[in-house]
Amino acid sequence: MRGFQLSALSALAAWATTASAAPKAPRGLEHGSCVPGLNGLGVRLSADSEIYCPDAAEFDDMTLRWSALGLPTVRAVVVPATEKDVSETVKYANQHDVPFLAYNGFHGATVTLEKMQNGLSINLAKLAGVKVSADGTTAEIQGGTNSKVVTDSLWAAGKQTVTGTCECVSYMGPALGGGHGWLQGHHGLLADQWVSMNVVLADGSIQTIDNDHELMWAMKGAGHNFGIVTSVTTKVYDIAHSNWAIETFTFSGDQVEAVYTAANTHLLDGGDQPVDVIHWSYWLNNPDADPVNPVIIFYLIQEGVDAIDDKYAQPLRDIGPISDEPLSGTYLNLSAWTGIALDSPPCQKLGTANPRFPIYLDTFDVPAMKEVYDQYAAAVGGDSQFGHSIFMFEAYSMQGVKAVDSASTAFAFRGENVLAAPLIIYQPDGPALDQQVEDLGNQLRETLHKATGRDEYRAYVNYAYGNEDNKNLYGAESWRQCKLQALKKTYDPESKFSFYNPVNV
Ligand SMILES: Cc1cc2nc3c(=O)[nH]c(=O)nc-3n(C[C@H](O)[C@H](O)[C@H](O)COP(=O)(O)OP(=O)(O)OC[C@H]3O[C@@H](n4cnc5c(N)ncnc54)[C@H](O)[C@@H]3O)c2cc1C
Ligand SMILES: *[C@@H]1O[C@H](CO)[C@@H](O)[C@H](O)[C@H]1NC(C)=O
Repeated sequence: MRGFQLSALSALAAWATTASAAPKAPRGLEHGSCVPGLNGLGVRLSADSEIYCPDAAEFDDMTLRWSALGLPTVRAVVVPATEKDVSETVKYANQHDVPFLAYNGFHGATVTLEKMQNGLSINLAKLAGVKVSADGTTAEIQGGTNSKVVTDSLWAAGKQTVTGTCECVSYMGPALGGGHGWLQGHHGLLADQWVSMNVVLADGSIQTIDNDHELMWAMKGAGHNFGIVTSVTTKVYDIAHSNWAIETFTFSGDQVEAVYTAANTHLLDGGDQPVDVIHWSYWLNNPDADPVNPVIIFYLIQEGVDAIDDKYAQPLRDIGPISDEPLSGTYLNLSAWTGIALDSPPCQKLGTANPRFPIYLDTFDVPAMKEVYDQYAAAVGGDSQFGHSIFMFEAYSMQGVKAVDSASTAFAFRGENVLAAPLIIYQPDGPALDQQVEDLGNQLRETLHKATGRDEYRAYVNYAYGNEDNKNLYGAESWRQCKLQALKKTYDPESKFSFYNPVNV
């Protein structure tokens, strides 16, 4: 987006000259030469909006996605400057029978996105900003605001709310699937904080909805399916603790059973993990530590302290890690510590395919963890072409999530304590390789699934590969499926929002 902002400035100068020559109604800035083919969309948009055609210099940058798999294709990028511009763009697309898709942080990675071909990218970058209410209990967040901007803006005002942990994604992308974040143990998911929102529906109409509106249920967990959110009002809180501590352990793969036995006993605690404790682990190659097999990076995080309490850290220290590094700082340090800050590798667009195969777990089944480690190490260890992969296990505290009535949102998986997902990173090289990766991901997920004893595995929609079914993503209960499908028929009868893990009717 950096290139885009610079070029937008120079384009503005060009606009100033043409504007005086042609005293027409305000219209969006047009870059490149698809615009005649777009048949007058520009004249329907506000003066600060922009349209980029494939021959515009900025186009490639503005359509480059984080994961180079299952890619949508774009005939033009529309950058609305107002909510009404979003509405006009959707109406225009409908009139001309052109598919459209919201582009926000560009990190959506489900292969279902490939179904959008030759469509309009509705780039929400100009709908950005955060405003705390006069009484300090809520904030209005514009639909295209980046997650770090939300965190930093609130922090500057002495406030915080539940946001995604990663600095490079949008606020809204995670939230529409429920949304996991550092503060969920206190307050619930991102979407649980919502008071009201403005949304452009499939027919282009603008609706304001609150928690009494039937659509709000669907927005909280299956929201990508129902509209384009232009702004949301969310609860915010005074900063409870500014200090946070982390202890980062590196274990070798042969310690996998000991590590997760300790995590079950001393951290997860039968689903009652202390609200101030979070742990994540990444299985990845670190040739300095082990040239053959992936190591286990274990992040143990605690809020309100400058060093992790011994009662949580000592059982892990006792296993004998390869390394053990404690750090302390503030809430704002967490993303850099866990490798998901703006300048961390997972935030870069490197041209790799980055599919995940998510599954929610109640607990770590130790024999299954051992089995899946061995499968993963055999596939990604050493000089494998999948050698940059990361197997993620995220164990946030859950009190706030479990306190919300499960029936009250489309997000269906409030009982689960661990979000697991292999992220297989590779250079794309055709369908045969993609299939090999999909088979590997399915196998790893199935190993964990078998140990849950459940018929259907449960998967986080925002990590989905795109081969999951609606029960996997939105809950197997028939009432959930019926309710979702009924709302889909009412609000999006022609399935305009059908590219991101669609609700099938
Ligand atoms: C490095 C990394 C870290 C992550 N960390 C977290 C995390 O901490 N917590 C978490 O819950 N998830 C996390 N995720 C997953 C994340 O929720 C999804 O990748 C999400 O799709 C990213 O949204 P985006 O706006 O960046 O991507 P985009 O590709 O721009 O958006 C994804 C989809 O969301 C929809 N969409 C986006 N904005 C809007 C809007 N305003 N209105 C309507 N629809 C919209 C569109 O359908 C779009 O296709 C992470 C992903 C990555 C890659
Ligand atoms: C925390 O972040 C601040 C600001 O970026 C930085 O100066 C400091 O070094 C960080 N602390 C740690 C321990 O990483």
